[in-house]
Amino acid sequence: MTGDPNTLETALSRPTAAGSPPNRFRGISARLPRVVDEHQSSKTDGFPESAGVESIDSTLIPGWVPPELDTTKAHTARIYEYLLGGMHYFDVDREAGETALRHVPQAREILQENRAFQNRATRFLIASGITQFLDLGSGLPGTGNIGDVARAEHRQARIVFVDFDPMVAVHGRALVAAADPAHTAVVEADVRRPAEVLADPELRRVLDLEQPVAIVMTSLLQFFAPEEDPRGIVAEYLAAVPPGSALVVSHITDGGRPAQAEAAVRAWDQTTSQMYMRGREEIAALFAGTELVEPGVVPRPLWRPDGEPRADWEEIWGLAGVGIKR
Ligand SMILES: C[S@@+](CC[C@H](N)C(=O)[O-])C[C@H]1O[C@@H](n2cnc3c(N)ncnc32)[C@H](O)[C@@H]1O
Repeated sequence: MTGDPNTLETALSRPTAAGSPPNRFRGISARLPRVVDEHQSSKTDGFPESAGVESIDSTLIPGWVPPELDTTKAHTARIYEYLLGGMHYFDVDREAGETALRHVPQAREILQENRAFQNRATRFLIASGITQFLDLGSGLPGTGNIGDVARAEHRQARIVFVDFDPMVAVHGRALVAAADPAHTAVVEADVRRPAEVLADPELRRVLDLEQPVAIVMTSLLQFFAPEEDPRGIVAEYLAAVPPGSALVVSHITDGGRPAQAEAAVRAWDQTTSQMYMRGREEIAALFAGTELVEPGVVPRPLWRPDGEPRADWEEIWGLAGVGIKR
């Protein structure tokens, strides 16, 4: 495979550009060698023995970036990764994250509360008997992803992650290989094309659409323009699953501070996605055709909190809810 730009050997021997590279892969998951295996026919020859396949990090392969990734523009999945304290982002993503933090200093807490809501909703749904999850706009499936949470509650839970960021697919494949391939799949696709997503053979392999499915769209629909008809897209996914299925949505709002929110939205303009704030009515309307689980569409920390919700919950901009398809 000498000369193939996708091989690790080639990546290792590639001269690093003079000066500091504009983008550096901050870290590579312990699972990445499995991904690398997909790009090369030989095994992990070339890694120092002492590193061990499971402990390789990016310092061993300076400047190596999976060739399918565009590192010139910030991507939402990687900005989230940066803000959530993960390792898989580039300088451009960190800069976008820092810009967002300048406008909304509590952005990290908003993201953490978003994941916490997602986890509580997942546990609630498993307890309610739903064991299939379609995680649309999943982001990087790191530790504590919806699959981990669902499988901790129910070993046979089935999860399909869908995202259009190729980095999610790179990590997702590693996750699937490391987790439970029979019950997990990663689909690289645009959620705005429900027919294509729902027809994907990997999705069909893992999910039985004749049985209830949780359609999860957390912090996703805020990246869909009004003219893309987010409500219609949600309705298409709901139409493909039987009654008793669930819809899990969270969506950013302006927190009652429109000027500050507008600045944050503008900060997202430098990324590959645009962000759109929506108000309570528009967010609640996304649940059309479902019966809302108590307490309805509420700020994330107030959705069935495990204990006392944080006192500053009003700072956690956004609303969330779970609906059950009638
Ligand atoms: C803000 S992150 C949210 C990740 C995760 N759902 C969460 O709540 O933490 C949004 C994710 O949606 C993905 N995304 C945005 N628009 C998408 C689209 N049209 N199709 C597929 N994925 C999309 C982004 O790549 C990103 O990973």
